[in-house]
Amino acid sequence: MAIRTIREIGDPVLNKVSKEVKEITPRVQELIDDMFETMYESNGVGLAAVQVGVLKKIVVIDTTGEDPILLINPRIVEFSGEQTGNEACLSVPGKTGSVTRPNYVKVIAQDEELNEFEIEGEELFARALCHEIEHLEGHLYVEKVEGALMDVEPEEEE
Ligand code: NI
Repeated sequence: MAIRTIREIGDPVLNKVSKEVKEITPRVQELIDDMFETMYESNGVGLAAVQVGVLKKIVVIDTTGEDPILLINPRIVEFSGEQTGNEACLSVPGKTGSVTRPNYVKVIAQDEELNEFEIEGEELFARALCHEIEHLEGHLYVEKVEGALMDVEPEEEE
């Protein structure tokens, strides 16, 4: 496994549409492993393959730190409600901004063997699902920010 370089806003790859995954080759498996490692190393709650420069519809999410979820070819099939809250992105370092999202989403995706499954999320998990799936369409949350994009307070060093 390896930590991959995270592409940052301004890199044109982030605005490209990712392609469907049709086969889990050893290279794809390695990409998935690296995506989890890169996400945890960066203290992120989600990462899309495009953020490491690979245009494949692959997303990893872990909103609790102990619940790794892999989504291949994910799509939102149902959503309801509304939530507004601050969002951030590993591709937009040091920034945060307020975004309104559905409070509930249902997603259909495929697992590591390309078997289809359904997953539902509310609140933070629903927000993460929306945010990551939008990456696969070439969109960043900054396009949806209400008000100003703010600087994240730097963490105090001890
Ligand atoms: Ni992001």
